[in-house]
Amino acid sequence: MQLYETITGIRQALDSQRRTGYSIGLVPTMGALHAGHLTLVDACKAQNDLTVCSIFVNPTQFNNPDDLARYPHTLEADCQLLEEAGCDLVFAPSVDEIYPTNPLMKLNFGELETVLEGAFRPGHFNGVGIVVSKLFNIIQPDRAYFGQKDLQQVAVVKRLIRDLGFQLELIRMPIVREDDGLAMSSRNRNLLPAERQEAPVLFQALSQAQDILRNDGTLDTAKTAVEGYLQNHPAFRLEYFEIANADTLQPVEQLQAPGATALCIAAHLGKTRLIDNLIL
Ligand code: PAJ
Repeated sequence: MQLYETITGIRQALDSQRRTGYSIGLVPTMGALHAGHLTLVDACKAQNDLTVCSIFVNPTQFNNPDDLARYPHTLEADCQLLEEAGCDLVFAPSVDEIYPTNPLMKLNFGELETVLEGAFRPGHFNGVGIVVSKLFNIIQPDRAYFGQKDLQQVAVVKRLIRDLGFQLELIRMPIVREDDGLAMSSRNRNLLPAERQEAPVLFQALSQAQDILRNDGTLDTAKTAVEGYLQNHPAFRLEYFEIANADTLQPVEQLQAPGATALCIAAHLGKTRLIDNLIL
């Protein structure tokens, strides 16, 4: 496995491989890797000749400076995990390498970003869109792997690919969870021990809503149940629970076809913000 820190370096390495006809898969990450990230790497390896993983804590997508300051940086451990997973190239650029100057442009994803994460994290998807576009330009992958954990990000990047005409396929991978149901996340490392014990409440709330809806309960009943469940766990501060279309992320009034309804939740637990979702 080779580690590259410059755009020129990784471009040169990939150009020669591309000329020999090798297909290239990209797994974009912000590091602090866990088993969820590694399922993306596994899928990428299975479907491409070359697997590139990028590790870049992208400042422009953090609307909260404390969140950026607290974000874990574990490059050495990440490289070890990637090596064991059989990743071929790691791209871990500095902030100056990616942003020699602050971008002046702004990406606006319209109604895709007026809901859920977009509504609560102003500017977040502008930053995601810019960095993902840069990575697509630098790596020029045939396929790129994204997790359902960030469902709205999948929708935004799909739209980015369409609107800007990137020639690549986006593959969405399922959420990997801890044994107690907590969705794996780099931010879980920031949870205090007592918070870590409380954290599965988010998945329990989603599962409860799923049960209600599967047993013909109304959407309102499901919402009330989730809000009540979170109120009984005062360590949490619920930001939103929404029942949305899994592709458009717009709120729905009734259940959609199988696979098309998403239950989406975000809440603060202490200083850490957690998100999760279930697709019905
Ligand atoms: P990051 O949070 O590091 O996540 C990298 C990828 O791993 C994302 O596609 C995310 O959805 C996926 N992922 C995270 N947790 C997962 C889990 N428990 N199961 C399955 N997949 C999971 O998302 C980002 O970084 C950034 O926004 C990025 C796309 C790299 C742009 O900066």
